[in-house]
Amino acid sequence: MSEVKSIGVVGSGHMGSGIAQVVATAMQGVDVWLHDVDSNALSKASSSISSSINRLVSKSLLSQGAGDDALKQLRFTSNLEDLRDADFIIEAIVESEEVKKSLFVKLDKIAKASAILASNTSSISITRLASSTTRPRQVIGMHFMNPPPVMKLIEIVRGADTSDETFTATKALSHRLGKVVITSQDYSGFIVNRILMPMINEAFFALYTGVSTKEDIDTGMKLGTNHPMGPLELADFIGLDVCLSIMRVLHAGLGDNKYAPCPLLVQYVDAGRLGRKRGIGVYEYGKEPKSSSH
Ligand code: NAI
Repeated sequence: MSEVKSIGVVGSGHMGSGIAQVVATAMQGVDVWLHDVDSNALSKASSSISSSINRLVSKSLLSQGAGDDALKQLRFTSNLEDLRDADFIIEAIVESEEVKKSLFVKLDKIAKASAILASNTSSISITRLASSTTRPRQVIGMHFMNPPPVMKLIEIVRGADTSDETFTATKALSHRLGKVVITSQDYSGFIVNRILMPMINEAFFALYTGVSTKEDIDTGMKLGTNHPMGPLELADFIGLDVCLSIMRVLHAGLGDNKYAPCPLLVQYVDAGRLGRKRGIGVYEYGKEPKSSSH
């Protein structure tokens, strides 16, 4: 692919804003368009990216000049057509196949013919997203880990029709972003979530069936297996709605009852207890110390 001059990111939530920040700080001179349908999400993204970049500058992890340049490269828009000149468009909207497909139909019409359309989906089939476009060879999964500015990994997912050129260009872009790449074929959950989400779901089952308290389940996995966060804390960090959507995709795609979402996870999501982003999930936030909520 020719030189990358412009990148679009669709969805300015937790992941999209982090991805836009990574692109702007790693790729000097490249325009970064961040789109969202929700203007509040765009203003939140703008302030969270500024404060994150300022934090990097204050810790001397980024020079003042590079931080200022990155902020100048970023453009926030609620008009999808502004992404028409992007060489790469990275989709990071809500984890719903229907909503993503309808976005891919629009992107396919708006984006220039050579543009690659990447999805940051955690679990949805890239092949099926690609099939909603007229350019399935140029559709690929580019799964950043949370939070994108900190986590080193990108899981690249090849759909059934993804071309070698698209794969090579996506790998090159990921390396320019300073990331390590792993490659997965397009099966539900790919590599990381195929293994991580059943563990989180099992932690919910342990809590649901009264095996132990949430604190002991998390401490057990932190100190017993050297995980930096316990599975329930991690679920709150990821978002319980995201975890539930991924379990449903694993259950439907792999067809085994061992992937059935835990009823407690379903109930928390029904109750709006979505994790840190809502101030309450398995734990409550903004109150010290963590209070009991099960
Ligand atoms: P989020 O809920 O923080 O953000 C989603 C954003 O998409 C919202 O700002 C919403 O207004 C916007 N949006 C919804 N429909 C849209 C549309 N049609 N056009 C434009 N914007 C639209 O979600 P989050 O956590 O950032 O997840 C986004 C994607 O990244 C999902 O596919 C998720 O599975 C994936 N992901 C999430 C991770 C996590 O730990 N939260 C980790 C890796 C991937």
